[in-house]
Amino acid sequence: MSPNYQATASAPVNIAVIKYWGKRDTKLILPTNSSLSVTLDQDHLRSTTTSRADPKFTQDRLWLNGKVDEIKPDSRLETCITEMKRLRKKTVEDKDPKAPKLSTYHVHIASYNNFPTAAGLASSASGFAALVASLSHLYELPVDASTLSLISRQGSGSACRSLFGGFVAWQMGTKSDGSDSLAIQVAPESHWPEMHALICVVSDDKKGTSSTSGMQRTVETSPLLQHRIKNVVPERMEKMTRAIKDKDFDSFAKITMADSNQFHAVALDTEPPIFYMNDVSRAIIALIVEYNRLSRENGGRYKAAYTYDAGPNAVVYAPEANMKEIASLIIAYFPQKAGDFKDVLGLFGAEGAKDINK
Ligand code: ADP
Ligand code: DP6
Ligand code: CO
Repeated sequence: MSPNYQATASAPVNIAVIKYWGKRDTKLILPTNSSLSVTLDQDHLRSTTTSRADPKFTQDRLWLNGKVDEIKPDSRLETCITEMKRLRKKTVEDKDPKAPKLSTYHVHIASYNNFPTAAGLASSASGFAALVASLSHLYELPVDASTLSLISRQGSGSACRSLFGGFVAWQMGTKSDGSDSLAIQVAPESHWPEMHALICVVSDDKKGTSSTSGMQRTVETSPLLQHRIKNVVPERMEKMTRAIKDKDFDSFAKITMADSNQFHAVALDTEPPIFYMNDVSRAIIALIVEYNRLSRENGGRYKAAYTYDAGPNAVVYAPEANMKEIASLIIAYFPQKAGDFKDVLGLFGAEGAKDINK
């Protein structure tokens, strides 16, 4: 009987506070600006992926949430799998002639998301991070998370940040081969454990415009994007990094909300315009703005920060001490059975992609 080559890994989603939106190279997935995110908790929104290599397999195959997902030639999936096999050959098989030649076997991969796929909750981020992490365990690659982030980036840009837990930057890089466009950890979760996130699922429908096609249209048509990438994001990256290092929630909140607003402004500046938020999303913004205004009017500080990805669902970052109040405010204003508002979940995360078993 042939040996069993199989490994399972999971990866959580990450939600950006400085948004990635725009590619300078669509094949390698090189972004037009750097970005920064927080990786959420493994327990709530995550992808779990099992990979198996077997000389008897006749082709590479993927099942997503139990359904066959075709691996098209030259697709991002194919690129990630090919790159992982190449890394196996280079870092293991070429060095040790006795190592099994797993890079020559086909793989079967099964992945499950425990939350809505393609609904603006970053399934492409956890999905491609978990895929790369599971192949890395299967192939026993002696490489670090930043090296793996170079490959998951080629599956979905935001996926490179889910290889790490805590606060993570994706440095856009300058090289045309993409070798310096990778993720680094700005600070581990343990640096700022009071930081929590509340996910408000306004809608779990599949979004109308995928991130990939939406951002491409923005690059082609939006003058505001050019201003954003040249004049706004570089300074925000520095200020956000400092806010995280100093655990300065006021600055974190101001930059997070400003960047979410500008990302959605850039989507609106696209031709034809893209609307990711809906009326419920905007009402949640109004609620958080008012909550902060009341606090600050009374000499207090910012208490919460909203951010929206390419979809209507809100993510609210806040110190844990405020979370109960925020959750009850949201539930009071958006009763779950009465409106669109589907779910409220408190979470925060730590670890990035992790090996589950072999
Ligand atoms: P989202 O907002 O959920 O990230 P995207 O439009 O960016 O939406 O990406 C959704 C796509 O990501 C899916 O259609 C699928 O191709 C891919 N994807 C999602 N989850 C996984 C997974 N677990 N494994 C592999 N690919 C995945
Ligand atoms: C709004 O990473 O999903 O969530 O690279 O084309 O797969 P592709 O796009 P994707 O875009 C994410 C956009 C965002 C912002 C962010 O996560 O930084
Ligand atoms: Co995505």
